[in-house]
Amino acid sequence: MKGIVLSGGSGTRLYPMTRAANKQLLPVYNKPMVYYPLTTLMLAGCREILLVVNPADVESYRRLFGDGKQWGLDIRYAVQPRPGGIAEVFIVGREFVGKDRVGLILGDNLFYGDSLPAVAERGATGSGAVVYAYWVSDPAAYGVVEFDAAGRPVSIVEKPKEPKSNWAVTGLYFYDADVCDVAAHIPRSARGELEISDVNAHYLKQGRLTVEKLGRGYAWLDTGTPSSLLRAAQFVETVEDRQGLQIGSPEEVAWRKGYIDDGGMEKLIQPIRESEYGKYLQRLLARA
Ligand code: DAU
Repeated sequence: MKGIVLSGGSGTRLYPMTRAANKQLLPVYNKPMVYYPLTTLMLAGCREILLVVNPADVESYRRLFGDGKQWGLDIRYAVQPRPGGIAEVFIVGREFVGKDRVGLILGDNLFYGDSLPAVAERGATGSGAVVYAYWVSDPAAYGVVEFDAAGRPVSIVEKPKEPKSNWAVTGLYFYDADVCDVAAHIPRSARGELEISDVNAHYLKQGRLTVEKLGRGYAWLDTGTPSSLLRAAQFVETVEDRQGLQIGSPEEVAWRKGYIDDGGMEKLIQPIRESEYGKYLQRLLARA
């Protein structure tokens, strides 16, 4: 399964933190933000990953991820020349997608919940477009989906002034390969972007959109403002401290899914054994 992590953007709402560092490289508690969405894609079964990044950040991401082999992944890179909208990933990523179904996750989206792997896997193995809706208090900040009385989606609108529901569309999406053609043909929005909500509205019109609701047992966290970033970090710290288990560790997910064996894990631990993160991975191995 192929997956794309969109990790560009200008991060203006987090300025000056994002003046010299790309938003998705900022920490959420003890890991770079992008680790969380990357592991969500891994849990959905994606092993061929395309990272779409800003031209100035390619080297930083390469330092962070390399070619992904250390985690049993195949990680490639594509550059988005400037932030022109989320749906542009399917223009810069056309060659990567080829004829395959593909997952897309936004590099600033943090998901947490017990059956998340199964829910995401359903999207990965489904057909047409599969997106996820989450009840939020401030829907006007998101793509919003409206449902009819039978629970079927009837509209998707990007940042509506008067939202028709509290159901926000999250930043995790799965599509058939024809998403590249769909993205190439939608017009730019008033703010000059290729909107992912327009891509989803297109699938809806064709009757090929599935919207799966994520219930209250999930956390879908925002990291877009200084206070939401801090709250996300506190959430991760709270859960990790309580359980002694980490959220969003690619090494752990790769090892649990059998992409790397104990020897592979040991090799990863060696250079970082003195860090808290290295010690955590050592504890996992020791208990296995
Ligand atoms: O988080 C979910 C929401 O994400 C959805 O509900 C909306 O429908 C969707 O449009 C998007 O809204 P945002 O306003 O949060 O998008 P934002 O511009 O903040 O970009 C989201 C991430 O994607 C961010 O980490 C930066 C990256 N990005 C964004 C754009 C527009 C890029 O890498 N390139 C881009 O051109």
